[in-house]
Amino acid sequence: MKTIILSLILTALAFSTFAQAPKVPIATPPAPVFTDTERQTELAKRRAQVAAHMQDNSVLVMFSAEPKLYTADVDYVFRQENDLFYLTELKEQNISLVIEKKNGKVTETVYLPKRDPRFETWNGKRYSIDEAKRISGIGNIVDATSFSGYLTSLAKNAAANQSIYLQLPYAEQDAEGKREYRQEAAFAATIPNAKTLNARRIFDDLRLIKSPYEIKLLQHAIDISIEGHMRAWATAGRASWEYEVQAELEYVFKRRNADYWGYPSIVGCGPNATTLHYEESQSPVKAGELMLIDAAAEYSHYSADITRTFPINGKYTKEQADIYQIVYDAQEAAAKTVKPGSKFSDASAAADKVIREGLFKLGLVTDPNSQEYRVWYMHGLGHWIGMNVHDVGSYAKPLAPGMVFTIEPGIYIRADALDYLPDTPKAREFKAKVMPAFEKYKNIGVRIEDDVLVTPTGIEWLSKPLPRKMKDIEDFMKIASKNVPFGAIRPS
Ligand code: GLY
Ligand code: MN
Repeated sequence: MKTIILSLILTALAFSTFAQAPKVPIATPPAPVFTDTERQTELAKRRAQVAAHMQDNSVLVMFSAEPKLYTADVDYVFRQENDLFYLTELKEQNISLVIEKKNGKVTETVYLPKRDPRFETWNGKRYSIDEAKRISGIGNIVDATSFSGYLTSLAKNAAANQSIYLQLPYAEQDAEGKREYRQEAAFAATIPNAKTLNARRIFDDLRLIKSPYEIKLLQHAIDISIEGHMRAWATAGRASWEYEVQAELEYVFKRRNADYWGYPSIVGCGPNATTLHYEESQSPVKAGELMLIDAAAEYSHYSADITRTFPINGKYTKEQADIYQIVYDAQEAAAKTVKPGSKFSDASAAADKVIREGLFKLGLVTDPNSQEYRVWYMHGLGHWIGMNVHDVGSYAKPLAPGMVFTIEPGIYIRADALDYLPDTPKAREFKAKVMPAFEKYKNIGVRIEDDVLVTPTGIEWLSKPLPRKMKDIEDFMKIASKNVPFGAIRPS
């Protein structure tokens, strides 16, 4: 009996400690597995939703992503265009999808490149017709060589009957759209203007609400990222250079079969933490400084996005903690507003208020009700995540279950921030007043970023297992730094 009670107490103790802060990196749980039927049902549902939004007597034409040039005859690793992937999960180049809606009847056709032993010798296997059918669930697969003839006749006949949906740049200023949708824009130029419609609006709305299937994939990307962050923190105290920490992090991404990172990893020590998208990782790692890691894996086209800022030697200084606590409180305040029906802007306003007041208390702004806080917090609160790290969808819509976004307030005391203020009496006065606090907090940069899901009742923190409170981060680092081997091989 005594043994049972003792073991119960020990189990309870272990659990309560674990609930506060894990002691070693949490191993990524197994990847989600879907049966062919589950995948095909999911994709068929998405295509049906797209078709339901199309006008009658219209056709949607979708092209694969074009290869992206790295240098000379070397391309970047191929990544399928998101909306085509969303409807087919086919990852090959030169595949096209056509959805036609005529008198309410919908037909779907995939144009698939033929198998080609010579091409495959160099570049790997292409899908067979059966494989493409099995993956996408689309029965009508035709040879891609007929696609250009199809486009020509479609353009010729467009005036007579159908409207044609294409993914098009939103405007002249839409540089990303122009880069991504060149083929579509070129084809659109061959069609009378009045007959083209932009399909991206349909996808933007649908992709904003993630299905349970998508959330499983996204959660896996988040889980891999969490393990990566933990390994990086556990080893950072023994690293000499930022790139060594980045290697520990990205080792986990690869080890856990992530597609890649969702965006280039940001691993910045000391002053580098004040550069929002610092990507070089070429500076020394110094005890006593903070390290900001904003990095996440992409899994099956879904990207996480997580940031933490931790002390290299495992203990926040008083000044670092002052800044960290404001950012933490801002994140908490933002999260408290999240529920169906509230707005993204409500969360932003809640975080702003905490930051304004916090900076005022520290002497870094002279008026909490002014825009001065923007000198130290110059980005938005967050963004949708999904198949793009900054995913598609309108921010004006009320929050609804299935939306997933980041909450990522930050404060960055950049060493040159005051040098770039306009030379006005007001700015000079601001500068003089905040100078003592500026000198105290100079070169500290803190961002905390989590991925959250809107649920029917409020919010779920998908990145919750990664410690966020200062005490939990310190506790984790103390033990994990002893438990995790450091992989660097030092030159002798
Ligand atoms: N994670 C980088 C960004 O959100 O801009
Ligand atoms: Mn982000």
